[in-house]
Amino acid sequence: MKYSRILGTGSYLPEKVLHNTDMEKLVDTSDEWIRERTGIEQRHIAADDETTLDLAEKAARNAIDAAGINSNDIDLIVIATTTPDCVFPSVASMLQARLGITNESPAFDIQAVCAGFAYALGVADNFIRGGSASVVLVIGAETFSRILNWKDRNTCVLFGDGAGAVVLGEDDKPGIHSTHLHADGRYKDLLHVPNGVSRGYDVMQQQEAFVQMRGNEVFRMAVTKLREVVEEALKANQMDKSDIDWLVPHQANIRIIQATARKLNMSMDRVVLTVQNHGNTSAASIPLALDTAVRDGRIQRGEKLLLEGFGGGFTWGAALVTY
Ligand code: UT7
Repeated sequence: MKYSRILGTGSYLPEKVLHNTDMEKLVDTSDEWIRERTGIEQRHIAADDETTLDLAEKAARNAIDAAGINSNDIDLIVIATTTPDCVFPSVASMLQARLGITNESPAFDIQAVCAGFAYALGVADNFIRGGSASVVLVIGAETFSRILNWKDRNTCVLFGDGAGAVVLGEDDKPGIHSTHLHADGRYKDLLHVPNGVSRGYDVMQQQEAFVQMRGNEVFRMAVTKLREVVEEALKANQMDKSDIDWLVPHQANIRIIQATARKLNMSMDRVVLTVQNHGNTSAASIPLALDTAVRDGRIQRGEKLLLEGFGGGFTWGAALVTY
């Protein structure tokens, strides 16, 4: 039986930081409102000449160093992103060239917005279990700031840019115990960028291709579906809540994270929280949180992690992992 295991993690955040007080100058909001409703204190924003590929490359190089592998050992790259540099080729394909990988292994992007990293991890895990890959670079990378309407206080205060990466390797024991992925397309209008290239560039320019969200309705659904999916992950592995050492959640809102922690009977000191520093970095948020807690020594080898995320689509997912 083949399993995948995390060999190393990495991340990257752009240098520019916008604090809540900076947001007060852009829209009718306050530091107090943002902290109380979301837990966010600041977010990183990509420089004008910095793209998702640049962020992904830096996170990837960190993860490759941490894993102690050569780039050419990588036989699959999966990047979760909603904000790719080009319509095509994929960010993953361009990253393969930047990393000097010449082994002609597959590379592709997947798009599941804030659940993207859970999806990418699930795909990568199945490639390894099925014997189609043995060393996989899995990345969540976003320049979400580019698809925000900076005049809309309902959305622009919530998001940030960044990238997180893991290198997965084949092993005879887990590693990744299971991944659980879901989608329900009936809710598309609650959280979306309603226009894309297929509608034509004129439509995109006239109608603005920016994030629109009915936050309160998304919030309620996120709490419900994340509760269900963490339960599903525990049940699939015949594990109890008390078996989990760390919750590594998608970082959209501290109140959603607290609700999931309560469901797991976990105190907040067993929850990796980065939302205060990063905001919601969409597909990048879980691997950014994971790398933060690995590098500061909180997450140790052998510990059990529950990763979960929820996003537009709706899409949601979880992974149960022994680090
Ligand atoms: O990662 C993908 C999934 N996304 C999420 O999970 C996000 C889920 N939703 C949320 O995190 C929360 O719903 C928000 C943080 C977006 C909003 O918090 P809320 O407690 O649900 O507030 P609300 O939408 O019910 O709005 C309350 C009030 C409204 O004013 P009125 O209508 O009560 O007068 C808003 O207009 O807060 C107002 N408001 C703001 N006020 C100051 C909305 N945005 C802001 C703002 N500053 N930035």
